[in-house]
Amino acid sequence: MARILGIGNATLDIINTVDGFPAEDTEVRALAQRICRGGNAANTLVVLSQLGHSCEWLGVLADEPDAKRVVEDLRKNGVSCSPCCYSAAGKLPVSYVTLNARNGSRSIVHYRDLPELDAEHFSQLDLTPFDWLHFEGRNIPELARMLARVRKEHPAMMVSLEVEKPRRGFDALFPFADLLLFARAYAHAQGYGDARQFLDAAAQRLPNTDLVCAWGEAGAWARSRAGATYMAPAWLPARVVDTLGAGDTFNAGIIDARMRGLDWEQALGVATELSGRKCGQVGFEHLLDNSMPSGAGGAPPESGRTARAPGSVLLCSLDDLDDPGARGFYIEDASGVAAIFVVRRGDNVFGYLNQCPHMGVSLEWTPDQFLNIDGTLIQCSTHGAQFRIDDGYCVYGPCSGQALAPLALSVDGAEIRLHGAIRVVDGAS
Ligand code: ADP
Ligand code: FRU
Repeated sequence: MARILGIGNATLDIINTVDGFPAEDTEVRALAQRICRGGNAANTLVVLSQLGHSCEWLGVLADEPDAKRVVEDLRKNGVSCSPCCYSAAGKLPVSYVTLNARNGSRSIVHYRDLPELDAEHFSQLDLTPFDWLHFEGRNIPELARMLARVRKEHPAMMVSLEVEKPRRGFDALFPFADLLLFARAYAHAQGYGDARQFLDAAAQRLPNTDLVCAWGEAGAWARSRAGATYMAPAWLPARVVDTLGAGDTFNAGIIDARMRGLDWEQALGVATELSGRKCGQVGFEHLLDNSMPSGAGGAPPESGRTARAPGSVLLCSLDDLDDPGARGFYIEDASGVAAIFVVRRGDNVFGYLNQCPHMGVSLEWTPDQFLNIDGTLIQCSTHGAQFRIDDGYCVYGPCSGQALAPLALSVDGAEIRLHGAIRVVDGAS
């Protein structure tokens, strides 16, 4: 176990889950809403704490209810806020997040009304007890002073720096860090469409720094200071429900693995598994349940979850469906909101997650249109993949040989029921 100080933001996240992003100047009703702690540094620390480290957060707090709520949340997650600085004015940063239930992607509007952390406060903190400092890359002039202090007073301290977006003067600070954790958005802003090329170019300027670049569902790359490049594919959850904070989780995985002395291949494996698991669930709780975080990543779970949890919900009646015919629903279970659909053929009904194995998109081109023209196969409207109705197996298209994730359905009299601790959010009769 190491003692880690994370320097950056904690936020209040107001997360609305919607059925696809709304177009500009339109209204939609959210399928679900969640209000919780967020912020890159805070999220990373929460995951590091789950990984067994002793974590402290240094950021700015105000004396107001949202800040108290976040402090309480961090405390419950094993992260101490005692190094924090209090501002007399302002309120905790708020992020308004729109989460697309169809594919787990998110868009964020930030509202910021709190002074940034200043180097003066940081200069008063005793850093000797810490094994690792992790900085969020923000407020560059103050960050420059903080990093300069660390290097002057603690030259051997391990320092990681998150580089999420371009900021004026940011790259001059890169050589202060032992480990740079780049986000895809940063590489894109530098004109790179490929993580490997981005890291090759960055390594020319930063020969003494370890460089990592996460690339969403494509996985992640690392370039060690020894000059070798490594890559790990994304670890795919059974379904992607929430990508908010995937990068923060990935960064925690890398920091933990490197602190434990794992090599780069193993570190990428651990971090992609951890962040993949995060994408498969809502929020950050219990990420390690059933996981194997100590090695080079685990095998993806089998697609589909057919195990029956107690209970069932009524979706609709057999008579509500044409024969052949299909209908889409939104359900909510412990791992969040998901799009599903059922298909009727004769007296049989089959149910699947509404997610094409090819790119994770939803299948239908217009509400409830899941079948091909003659009603013999399920069809994805994006790239034309076709699936057998009775087992979801892909017989044609870019995901041939893969299958839709099946659901545990039963037909009781004429009632079509879905098994599990589930609530139907939208679409039920
Ligand atoms: P950010 O949250 O900063 O946008 P990324 O989207 O690059 O970060 O994700 C960080 C890591 O999380 C990726 O390298 C990958 O391992 C994992 N990840 C992100 N999106 C997915 C996804 N859809 N499926 C599985 N893993 C994902
Ligand atoms: C996720 C996150 C959210 C927060 C936002 C801040 O990475 O930290 O929790 O709202 O990003 O930029």
